[in-house]
Amino acid sequence: MSNDMSMSNDMAMSNDMAVTTMRGGAGQLGVGPDTLVLGIETSCDETAAALVLGGTDVVSSVVSSQIDLHAEFGGVVPEVASRAHLESLNPVVERALADAGVGPERVDAVACTVGPGLIGALLVGVSAAKALSLAWEVPFVGVNHLEAHLYSSFLDHGDIGFPLVVLLVSGGHTMLVEMRGHGDYRLLGRTIDDAAGEAFDKVARFLDLGYPGGPAIDAAAELGDPEHIAFPRAMMHDGLDMSFSGLKTAVTNHVRRHPDVGSADVAASFRAAVVDVLVAKTRRAAAEVDAVGIVLGGGVAANALLRTEMTAAGAADGRTVLLPSREMCTDNAAMIAAAGWHRLGVDGPSPLDIGAFPTMPLVSSTPEAHRG
Ligand code: KG4
Ligand code: ZN
Repeated sequence: MSNDMSMSNDMAMSNDMAVTTMRGGAGQLGVGPDTLVLGIETSCDETAAALVLGGTDVVSSVVSSQIDLHAEFGGVVPEVASRAHLESLNPVVERALADAGVGPERVDAVACTVGPGLIGALLVGVSAAKALSLAWEVPFVGVNHLEAHLYSSFLDHGDIGFPLVVLLVSGGHTMLVEMRGHGDYRLLGRTIDDAAGEAFDKVARFLDLGYPGGPAIDAAAELGDPEHIAFPRAMMHDGLDMSFSGLKTAVTNHVRRHPDVGSADVAASFRAAVVDVLVAKTRRAAAEVDAVGIVLGGGVAANALLRTEMTAAGAADGRTVLLPSREMCTDNAAMIAAAGWHRLGVDGPSPLDIGAFPTMPLVSSTPEAHRG
């Protein structure tokens, strides 16, 4: 990659050249099985780049995690994240190309997360992706990070038809989405307070299990008794929305009242309560829309109990359950490239004057809808 890859906002906002800079000069990219997309992800605390062929084949995937940088603060510090993205992005993109054994001339399009996420962190990736698209004369395509999580299962499993019910569970989001086709989503339910991953992180911090909390609780829970404490399962029989903040409070109250309780038992009982709710709600959603399959996405989809319980529920109900591999559950750029490949086929390239959208929703949210 050339050193003149600038990440300045001037470059990011410069003009509307995406269509005219496309290789071959066509007005719409003919996206196909040979289209190689470079994905870039910088929305939170992972700097990632990946090359994906034909929307599904991961040729290379590099993730540089900032976990160690943020661990001492017990959570992501936005300014630290932006600076670390700036330092890591060029080497990460170069690694992705080197791992794939290709040069920039083989790349057909650059896809990048434009939202939701931390504004400073997003802008690093968006500016770099636009600069690369200009320098390499290939289309730029802005990708919704949440939509990309939906696509992480397709990387491993391919298409199984529609409608699908997607349980998207990450640190910032918990939602049930009906996917009626590529790019066609309907929100079925969501958390009314904390995201499931946020509950894992907060409970882990309270129990001193470390950061990020999800994997720490998951590991501790394997050694504990899930029936030791009957934590509440909020809104279990009530629609498709969810609530996790009462559960988090129940955990802290219990531990304060019973200081001798083992943290493995607390972790196991907490994990069981979260998973019970997620599985019950997903099952109900799948029955309501008569889904052909259930797809999991987002960091919490790496949870061991959620994976086994959802698979068992799918088998009992006669529905296919697609689980992304664990490394594709948490933030990565392969899912960005995959979603970018689909977006490119449906909408064509994004204009180079789109910005970053920290609160971008999944539903009815093409990047273009957020211009201005
Ligand atoms: O999707 P992701 O990498 O980033 C966001 O977009 O939020 O998700 C990160 C979240 C964190 O809250 C983390 O604690 C949680 O996913 N997580 C897990 C597990 N691995 C990651 N939660 C439960 N069990 C896990 N094994
Ligand atoms: Zn994510």
